[in-house]
Amino acid sequence: MTIPLLWATPPSPSPSKRGLTLEVRASAPAKVILFGEHFVVYNQPALVLAVDKRVQVSARLREDQHIHIRSSNLGLSAIFTEDHFQPQRRGKEAHRRLEPIRIATQKILDISGEKVGVEIEISSRIPVAAGLGSSAAVSAAVAASVSRLLNLQISKEKIFDITLEAERFIHRTPSGIDPAISTYGGLILFQKDRGVTPLEIDVDLPLVVGDTQLKRSTGDMVAEVGKRREQCPSVIDPVLKAGAEIVQSAIQALKNGDLPELGELMDINQGLLSAVGVSNESLERIIYAARNAGALGAKLTGAGGGGCMIALCPEERLEDVAQAIREVGGTAFLARKTDDGVRVEAT
Ligand code: MEV
Repeated sequence: MTIPLLWATPPSPSPSKRGLTLEVRASAPAKVILFGEHFVVYNQPALVLAVDKRVQVSARLREDQHIHIRSSNLGLSAIFTEDHFQPQRRGKEAHRRLEPIRIATQKILDISGEKVGVEIEISSRIPVAAGLGSSAAVSAAVAASVSRLLNLQISKEKIFDITLEAERFIHRTPSGIDPAISTYGGLILFQKDRGVTPLEIDVDLPLVVGDTQLKRSTGDMVAEVGKRREQCPSVIDPVLKAGAEIVQSAIQALKNGDLPELGELMDINQGLLSAVGVSNESLERIIYAARNAGALGAKLTGAGGGGCMIALCPEERLEDVAQAIREVGGTAFLARKTDDGVRVEAT
């Protein structure tokens, strides 16, 4: 009979004794795509703006090697051990929504080589599955908080890569536009094969974001556009090209501070999004309500099929436009640009 040598391996010192920081908070912004969603999947340019709603993530070390993720606004919580997933409630949904967060956390743990567990807590002011980039914002903030927790210096490029990896689990073939804006913030020109070009244009864009409250899957919407394009490439390809022209004209209008021109380009872009099949009645209803209440232009933002729209407004019409959206059944809030991408908050 052999007696297990329980004392043979000295227990590893607790994380706190190894001098690791005990709690780190990080945040990342929501986004609105001004021009070019969906077309960006086909390597066309798109313009995207980070806005002043943020997701907050707190990361703490655990003594074991488990990853425990809690999201207060989703009401979901689960523990990931090396080979088990233990949801506290709503197992399927918990896995779908929390797995990308585990992926981001695990990537950082792998880079650090630390054998520790992490406690992640998420609270978000960004509506979920609504086209505002909440999942990418969460993954970026998780990557930033966990890396700082482990005293790891990682570049924004690395945070972008990790966020994109996490997004692949949810959206299958993401272009990378959501990870880019939640990482870098500001106003970005994004194209798949050219990456991120920050646009330092000093223009104030008074926006109302309207939410149809209909949830939809980005991956499914992207697949729908793919099907339409396969059926009629000779019709859809020129639509994608027109989208690219809109982006070039929009950059010029932004440089000139010409908001009426930008508004008109938004309306045209909405027509193209309708042509590729991602608008619907609930979106059109709030888009027309916004236009009729004095918006300079309005279009869906993100994947469509529900989710959100944006309306560019003269400052003095912002409240009227928000109210008009609410009157036809949407919810609405005012949004402004933020320059801050993902950032670690004071610890
Ligand atoms: C989603 O925010 C934007 C889409 O173009 C998908 C993508 O680019 O990954 C619909």
